[in-house]
Amino acid sequence: MYRILERQDLTPNIHLFKIDAPRVAAKARAGQFVILRQGENGERIPLTLADWNKDEGSVTVVFMEVGLTTKKLALLQAGDALTDFAGPLGLPTHIENYGTVVCVAGGFAVATIMPIARALKEAGNRVITIMGARSQSLLFWEKEVGRYSDELIVITDDGSNGRKGLVTEPLRDILAKEGNGVTRVIAIGPTVMMKFSSKTSEPFKVKTIVSLNPIMVDGTGMCGCCRVSVGGVTRFACVDGPDFDGHEVDWDELMARQRTYLEQEASSLAQWQCQRGACAQEAR
Ligand SMILES: Cc1cc2nc3c(=O)[nH]c(=O)nc-3n(C[C@H](O)[C@H](O)[C@H](O)COP(=O)(O)OP(=O)(O)OC[C@H]3O[C@@H](n4cnc5c(N)ncnc54)[C@H](O)[C@@H]3O)c2cc1C
Ligand code: FES
Repeated sequence: MYRILERQDLTPNIHLFKIDAPRVAAKARAGQFVILRQGENGERIPLTLADWNKDEGSVTVVFMEVGLTTKKLALLQAGDALTDFAGPLGLPTHIENYGTVVCVAGGFAVATIMPIARALKEAGNRVITIMGARSQSLLFWEKEVGRYSDELIVITDDGSNGRKGLVTEPLRDILAKEGNGVTRVIAIGPTVMMKFSSKTSEPFKVKTIVSLNPIMVDGTGMCGCCRVSVGGVTRFACVDGPDFDGHEVDWDELMARQRTYLEQEASSLAQWQCQRGACAQEAR
């Protein structure tokens, strides 16, 4: 059993768990993920490592409530335990001294970009971070990410904090202003955000790394569920990624595959909510 040592609510629907998992903490590297399961009949879901502490033997994950499993997870408190916690999985993000790197993070991925920005800074890079959310109430870790960023740009869809607009706008401005001065972009967030960040950097010919989030099951390259086309070749995000060259990803195929189980996901969430007495009138 993997005990939850600490729980924090970063926004109304984004939560942090610090989990007792010394063997995962011992091997953790920026960009890797874990697959966890809650309950004997629970679904296995991947979550990226937001932080880890080898001395304490703890691993931190940050997750957004979107469907049945993440909503069930959000009911757990410090002292509760997860049934399974496998990792670290996936290849770590490749870190070296590139020069100037622009990190782009959307929504919960601010937590994902944190250890990457930290590793980039430690490797001597100049790090510019753009963090975006729909509104101020969904923003978190500005100070934490700022600590590892030479420049931090906050942007919200509704202008309630920082600049008003989408993350692609400051990204385009920086690339236009700095020309070849920017040597790499790392964009992590909702698939549509990663797609358009890649489309934005493509004309500037700046290598852009994205962390893909296809549906995963085993996380070991055996089930084939997480397959994605990158540069016309089939790759498995769990073992060949999750990081890939954003200019080579077949985004439309990825988004279509992510929608495969929408109906089943909605129906299992509705059934569970019904069992908890929060049934929609028409579902009764
Ligand atoms: C390598 C990897 C790392 C991830 N890291 C994080 C993380 O650190 N924090 C976090 O909050 N989430 C992360 N995710 C996404 C997370 O795994 C899903 O949100 C979770 O599996 C949804 O489960 P659910 O049962 O709550 O929702 P479901 O009922 O499965 O889905 C509900 C809704 O969310 C969408 N959805 C489901 N899975 C994904 C997905 N993989 N990516 C995007 N949308 C999805 C569905 O299309 C649907 O609209 C990661 C995914 C991958 C592949
Ligand atoms: S999740 Fe099964 S092959 Fe990647």
